[in-house]
Amino acid sequence: MRMTDIIKKKRDGEKLSKEEIDWMINEYCKDEIPDYQMSALMMAVFYQGMDKDETFYLTMAMKDSGDILDLSQIPGIKVDKHSTGGVGDKTSIALGPLVASCGVPVAKMSGRGLGHTGGTIDKLESIHGFTTNLTEEQFIKQVKEIGIAIMGQTKDLAPADKKLYALRDVTETVDQLSLIASSIMSKKLAAGADGIVLDVKTGNGAFMQNLADAQNLAREMLQIGSQAGKSMTAVISNMNQPLGNAIGNALEVKEAIDTLQGNGPKDFTELVLTLGSYMLVTGKIAENEIDARKMLEYHMKDGTAFEKFVAFVKAQGGEESYVRDVTKLPKATIIEEIETKERGYISFMDTAEIGICSLILGGGRETKESIIDPAVGLIIKKKVGDFVEKGECLAVIHGNDKEKVQQAKEHYLSHIKLSNEKIEKETLIFDVIHA
Ligand code: URA
Repeated sequence: MRMTDIIKKKRDGEKLSKEEIDWMINEYCKDEIPDYQMSALMMAVFYQGMDKDETFYLTMAMKDSGDILDLSQIPGIKVDKHSTGGVGDKTSIALGPLVASCGVPVAKMSGRGLGHTGGTIDKLESIHGFTTNLTEEQFIKQVKEIGIAIMGQTKDLAPADKKLYALRDVTETVDQLSLIASSIMSKKLAAGADGIVLDVKTGNGAFMQNLADAQNLAREMLQIGSQAGKSMTAVISNMNQPLGNAIGNALEVKEAIDTLQGNGPKDFTELVLTLGSYMLVTGKIAENEIDARKMLEYHMKDGTAFEKFVAFVKAQGGEESYVRDVTKLPKATIIEEIETKERGYISFMDTAEIGICSLILGGGRETKESIIDPAVGLIIKKKVGDFVEKGECLAVIHGNDKEKVQQAKEHYLSHIKLSNEKIEKETLIFDVIHA
């Protein structure tokens, strides 16, 4: 086979075969196909698209390019959850222990991530001693013993996707639905779960800015997952304002703990319960979402969800006292309120830019080498639709550097809009799509 023929075929709008896709991914991983030829193909895909079969073959080829986790030793239906990412998204930290406490085995691989805060792993590492450096054996043993483990993504998980994504990132070919869906699903399928619940975010703080795009991405991922024999559900949720109130690593851990104990913000609690309900139904622990929700709420109230979290933290080297007494989590030295200069209803929050406030404070990574400050971030006090008087507190900043705190304050104020007219509160869940 020749790469030039494959590029020409896609450029002319023809369909690629499984053999061509397998060959191309294989050769690309061996560095036998140069980046300039793969870039040309990605641009051809960007304009011509791929059909369901091509998207599926590409996903499977990338999945098969590296390690595939074998979770078969763990009894029960293993259910994973994936979020397309957003501001204040600490869902896995609360959801994992909660569903595990109801009997769904949670064997989760998570990432660090570039951006406004760290990824799930960075957040969990704000608990003293906590590690996600587990071997596959330790990971499986822990899920068998306590029902939950979260480990860092192994280097060899879908390496073809890693190489291709880095190329797409610098050739303006990320933004193509089939390429995004196959990229995400190759890693999810390699992580070995039997069922996957997707949280596809939409809004100004999300990858997919409008609802139709988010629904299309969800459908593409559902299609791939079900073709691969997985049980799939997608929830489309709102990212037109941060999720919950906390943004920042240790602050988000604290909010996840509050939520596990039934004292979390309304929107975050609702999302955790919704995703958790579908995970319990997928895991055949509950017959329907109503029963599932009752079970989840019960486990929040009677303390079993929190105790599962404590057991999980201890099993991964974290100090129990840090999560039983959250005042021991890393704390910032400067805590200041951001006050409004006007009165009115909050009509718009530029969520991505609000996330940047945390990055300014040092809570995220600008490059892979950046060191995260776990203590810094923000606690949002007012969201879209809330009324504020002049001088009222919009958010509380937690920082360790006076200049950065001032910069973050100004950044926050310049990305919020107020209106004299009453504004509706944001809807949290837009859609639920089943495969
Ligand atoms: N996230 C991924 O993992 N892949 C993409 O292509 C886009 C977002």
